[in-house]
Amino acid sequence: MEIRRIGLITSGGDASGMNAVIRAVVRTAIHKGVEVVGFYQGYRGIILNRYQVLDSRFVSGMLHRGGTVLQSARCEEFKTTEGQQQAMENLKQLGIQGMVVVGGDGSLTGALVLQRMGMPTIGIPATIDNDIYGTDMAVGVDTSLTAIVHAVDMIKDTASSHQRAFIIEVMGRHSGYLALMSAIASGAEAAIIPEFPTDMDALAERLLQRYRKGHTNCIVIVAEGASTAYRVADQLKDRIGFETRVTVLGHLQRGGTPSVFDRLLGSRLGINATERLLIGDSGKMVGLVGNKTLATPLEEVLSHRKTLDLSLLEVAGILS
Ligand code: ADP
Ligand code: F6P
Repeated sequence: MEIRRIGLITSGGDASGMNAVIRAVVRTAIHKGVEVVGFYQGYRGIILNRYQVLDSRFVSGMLHRGGTVLQSARCEEFKTTEGQQQAMENLKQLGIQGMVVVGGDGSLTGALVLQRMGMPTIGIPATIDNDIYGTDMAVGVDTSLTAIVHAVDMIKDTASSHQRAFIIEVMGRHSGYLALMSAIASGAEAAIIPEFPTDMDALAERLLQRYRKGHTNCIVIVAEGASTAYRVADQLKDRIGFETRVTVLGHLQRGGTPSVFDRLLGSRLGINATERLLIGDSGKMVGLVGNKTLATPLEEVLSHRKTLDLSLLEVAGILS
């Protein structure tokens, strides 16, 4: 059966570049004579029937905007059988013949639920955590890293003026990707990540040596999935020479103008997902693998953990 109408949601933690995805899905579909229904606030919008048909004008002038114009939500109801049945019923009533789901691993788990209930569905990875198997980069990661590194650069200025150590907490629910990459890119002295245990005594000794050599500042980046910046500061204070200060970067890591990389990635994945859905290819997530767009079955994506290249921890240490 020819597909004439598809649905689209952005779900879970928002990520800069989601708007580029929305724009690409809408314009690709329109180009092929297919209508796109955008549901507001992820799965919640499907359950509550909050939607709008998205025309070409709806998606104009938003490439440069962070967040998602369709809004996002964490919707507990969609995790229940009743919620899922209600969603499927609403999709059928609206004549939706396929879905594009944009979000992190939770949202992609929901995408697999839709697929298994008979709704052809394609997922697009978008989360600052970069913890999704099947893609080198998720939409939003590059913008988030840029924001973190910018913030660390600024903190370094004041840290140097006062010969202080700053313990900076970054996001990453279960992943140290942002912490490790931002540590390398900002020249931080250490990254504390959930994927690898940190010897706090050895770290304290290393920072003390640095103090004794007369360095003016010291930066330790902590992934929220490993510890909190306050706890780490408590463990280090009075042992490293430097006076300690804490900064929790919080949601500034999730907002802001999408980087060029995220706009291009979002556009490429949006086009690819839509084209696949329209030729009957579904139950997959499209990702970026070695600079090529590649589709991986959602089951495979969700049953694997994305691994972090731990040799980069050594790189961070050598370079700092
Ligand atoms: P992210 O997509 O960023 O990982 P969440 O983990 O909060 O964010 O997931 C977003 C939404 O996806 C949830 O609020 C819920 O609606 C849906 N979802 C998550 N896990 C499941 C699941 N096991 N079954 C069905 N839907 C799920
Ligand atoms: O999953 C993305 C993420 O930004 C995590 O890094 C963070 O732990 C979480 O979302 C914060 O979620 P909330 O939207 O509830 O603040």
